[in-house]
Amino acid sequence: MPDQPAYRLPRSAIPSRYELTLRPDLDAYTFSGSERVHIEVAAATREITLNAIELEITSAALVSVDGVTRHEGKVTYDENEQQVTVTLDSAIEPGAWLFDASFTGVLNDKLHGFYRSTFVDEQGTERVIATTQFESTDARRAFPCWDEPDFKAAFAVTLEVKDGLTALSNGHVVADDPIDGGYRRVRFAETMTMSTYLVAFVVGPLVVTEDVDAGGTPLRVACVPGKEHLAPFALEAGAHALAFFTDFFGIAYPAGKLDLVALPDFAFGAMENLGCVTFRETALLVDQSDASTTDLMRIADVVAHEIAHMWFGDLVTMKWWNGIWLNEAFATFMELLCVDSFRPEWKRWDAFATERAAALRIDGLEATRPVEIAVARPEEADAMFDVLTYQKGSAVVRMLEQYLGAEAFREGLRLYMQRHAYGNTETTDLWDAIEEASGEPARSIMDSWIYQGGYPLVTATPIGADRVRLSQSRFRYGGGANATWQVPVRVRHTAGEERVVLGDEPVEIAVSGAGPVVVNAGGWGFFRVRYEGDLRGRIAAGLASLSALERYNLLSDAWASALAGAAPATEALELMQAYGDETDPATWQLILAIAKTLRRVAPDHAGEFVGRLAAPAAARYGWEAQEGEDATAGTSRGIVLELLGGFSDDTRASVVKESRRRVEAAESDPAALPGDVRRAALQTVARHGDEADLTRLLEGMRTASTPQDETQYRAALAEFTHPALVRRVCDLCLTEIRSQDVSPLLMLILAGAHPAVAWEWVEANWDTLLERLPSNLVTRIVLGVVETVDQALAARIRAFLETHPIPVGGATVRQYLELMDTHVAFATRESAALASSLGS
Ligand code: BES
Ligand code: ZN
Repeated sequence: MPDQPAYRLPRSAIPSRYELTLRPDLDAYTFSGSERVHIEVAAATREITLNAIELEITSAALVSVDGVTRHEGKVTYDENEQQVTVTLDSAIEPGAWLFDASFTGVLNDKLHGFYRSTFVDEQGTERVIATTQFESTDARRAFPCWDEPDFKAAFAVTLEVKDGLTALSNGHVVADDPIDGGYRRVRFAETMTMSTYLVAFVVGPLVVTEDVDAGGTPLRVACVPGKEHLAPFALEAGAHALAFFTDFFGIAYPAGKLDLVALPDFAFGAMENLGCVTFRETALLVDQSDASTTDLMRIADVVAHEIAHMWFGDLVTMKWWNGIWLNEAFATFMELLCVDSFRPEWKRWDAFATERAAALRIDGLEATRPVEIAVARPEEADAMFDVLTYQKGSAVVRMLEQYLGAEAFREGLRLYMQRHAYGNTETTDLWDAIEEASGEPARSIMDSWIYQGGYPLVTATPIGADRVRLSQSRFRYGGGANATWQVPVRVRHTAGEERVVLGDEPVEIAVSGAGPVVVNAGGWGFFRVRYEGDLRGRIAAGLASLSALERYNLLSDAWASALAGAAPATEALELMQAYGDETDPATWQLILAIAKTLRRVAPDHAGEFVGRLAAPAAARYGWEAQEGEDATAGTSRGIVLELLGGFSDDTRASVVKESRRRVEAAESDPAALPGDVRRAALQTVARHGDEADLTRLLEGMRTASTPQDETQYRAALAEFTHPALVRRVCDLCLTEIRSQDVSPLLMLILAGAHPAVAWEWVEANWDTLLERLPSNLVTRIVLGVVETVDQALAARIRAFLETHPIPVGGATVRQYLELMDTHVAFATRESAALASSLGS
């Protein structure tokens, strides 16, 4: 490949099998290793180039397959490209060779590559775990390798570990023998042929649960000692997911065993290493008897998502990093299907409304991007893990599935998996398989959603009594933009349902009856709807006949029009008044989000309005679960209480008092604070709390008996409203808060009562944050500023971020700043009108 850019490896040597030995020293934070890689050399050469960074390569050589000839190599490092070139003492002939290398490295504390995680054990001693996180391009930090996703190879891993430590990798243990110096040599079964980013090793004082037989696959959880009682729920969800995907894809699970490993320090939620999936503790370990439904759903989600990747991602893998969106969007879509079958009563697809709305919010900005974009340098892959990849990606996949029908869609996926197993693909390979299976033009529909940013606003205009005209334009908060999509639209009216694919030209459809005309029936179209004429009143009057997702969309679209300045905010708020009987937690969550914006824009008037809407619902739900209530009622209960605890002046007194009573009682009797209302009570106490409460919540965080409780106590710290307490909580982010937990906390503090105080702190500690956190986690902190409504503060934030760019976070930061400007403009436009209308 003569024109290939410097960051890509030449295709002149292709690996097929790695024999890899690693020996971590958990006391010295170092490791040493050696490898023998079976390669095929395409043409006579004196040079082999592969990836490595932050490794010292102590020897490298090429050896003939029979072991007779050995060519020593001299290593030169190219740090910029994260490559090494091994120059041989003489040229070798094309054909099969063995690449041998020895190397050493450091177990870093940056949560990538081969890194260390620490915890304090039950005896009070600090213990170390050596573990890996390789996606996207950090396998090269652990061993020299051809670290691009289409260099698939088999991995035969050996770990040399100190006696008494648990060692895990992708395969099961095939030999475990004592060696010198109090060490053991643990050899793992060779993997299937797969990408380097899926290799994993974990070494440390971990406990592993007994095997569960999940349809022939041994399934286990590994975690730090003392937490194994929190594993059963993940095992149940994992066994379900293995069975579900085996059936769905019609292909057996592609690895021999599956370990789910909970780690005290972990940058993301979880990682789909083949057969050895790693998680942060909150995403895996839970006390089922005491957790909120939201927390249980999160665990079922993450487990299902990563197990979906065993097929979609691990067995069939993207050719290059532009394909990350397909990998993640599909795993997210499959996760939802799986969790919906695991606990149908959770109504997982209704809950997805919140995630989808997060995508619509960012994608309504000028600074959005297409779902699939070119990724040049591998570091750019890090910028792909955002709401457009996951939430928009999965939402448009859901739209396609709903359009084609579940059966045809699944047939297409099966064909794709069978055709490309052990291989690498591009997005179009999937559309081709789906078209073949369904006979529908999947590719032309999807191209407009994938290669173009943004989404349409579909306007429904009544034409006489029995026709509706549909037309589209691009929805943008900032207004004005031209683009069209191939929009699959379902329209429901009194007498039935019509389906059209709306293109450049408006279409007219016949409708009948006087009831609501629901454009985007079912709610799965990735677009917003504007109802004109009497259609708006008809749908508002027919709220009770809408599905949960349709109700969500109606309010969400109305509010988006207000933010965009296309309609006065009072119009959306009037509609919102009709939602007092709502039962869908996602819709309550939307109401809560709108209420938070109102609190910022019209602080003296929001409470009364929110109280009118939510107090009757709070009375209905109470604090405790009621006999025979829906499985989603607890989640709604928690949100409604959070709403009142933070807003309403009338009812607040009683909610605040009851929150405090329950938080205090929970110190001796955990049952006083049921899982579903725990978050609301803790936040309410903090919101109205003083220094003594801060001490109380901190103590609660330190002594929490589950990862979820720890998270909830920590998140509540963001709610204190006294500036001095806000600063104290910020300071904790540099001391006792683990680096993995810093960005969610700072994000919440920035979105809290004193954004200016919090922002000042962020500026003052910026360099430390950048040094301590992976840069994509720094980007997540900035999410906290998007609802800033203070003009001067917004200007300061923008100026700072423009002069202090976050590596690879540029596009996301631009989106956040534009969203912030949208809120500033909204506040400027609406604050006077809202103050007068909310008060009345
Ligand atoms: N492959 C990702 C993990 C990942 C994220 C690697 C970013 C490198 C960069 C994994 O499958 C994933 O998507 N994890 C999610 C959780 C999931 C349930 C959405 C995560 O970590 O947030
Ligand atoms: Zn994923």
